[in-house]
Amino acid sequence: MIVAIDGPAASGKGTIARRLARYFGLPHLDTGLLYRATARVLIDEGGRLDDVEAAVAAARGLALTEFDEEKLRGREMGEAASVVGAIPEVRAALIDMQRHFTQHPSGAVLDGRDIGTIIAPQADVKIFVTASPETRAQRRALELRGRGEAVNYPDILDDIRKRDERDAGRSAAPLKPAADAEILDTTDLDIEAAFRAALAIVEKKRG
Ligand code: DC
Repeated sequence: MIVAIDGPAASGKGTIARRLARYFGLPHLDTGLLYRATARVLIDEGGRLDDVEAAVAAARGLALTEFDEEKLRGREMGEAASVVGAIPEVRAALIDMQRHFTQHPSGAVLDGRDIGTIIAPQADVKIFVTASPETRAQRRALELRGRGEAVNYPDILDDIRKRDERDAGRSAAPLKPAADAEILDTTDLDIEAAFRAALAIVEKKRG
């Protein structure tokens, strides 16, 4: 079974994907990490985020096993990932790795922006997770503070709005629900309720 979870930043899609994967015993790929790691390599090399050639080389050179999630989850890297994610050549360089992941014999759970539309249009279950920008900003601010980053809510809300605009407005694989995705709005749901709602969608699809 392939489960595609898409949605904007801090919608809850990552937590839902991780929990579904654990529940069904499936491997999970957080595809945002691929874009974050690509941006990280560029920044570490002192390069520019809009240097297409360097960004493609960085994307091609990624090794999933070497990801240091701690270094990739911060605010700066989320923004930078959104910038490199708008480069069509970078997206093209990351497609094979993601499609390969869907071919695991048991299936897989992937979360991102274009899983149901581009990476795995054949997915058995597609869920588009969303929530109001204000709720997402509150969650992201809490998460970043928990990681020791000093952030304030208005800045994070501004980040979220800009990121939504960039991710949904780009020409290459824009953030949007697949035609056959179920929409799950988590604005008024806590993590447990959001997971239960996602699980109900999966169970319904599996019949
Ligand atoms: O899911 P995330 O917040 O870790 O993603 C960071 C950025 O990476 C996101 O704003 C856009 C980009 N991204 C993408 O373009 N396509 C994906 N499948 C996943 C992430």
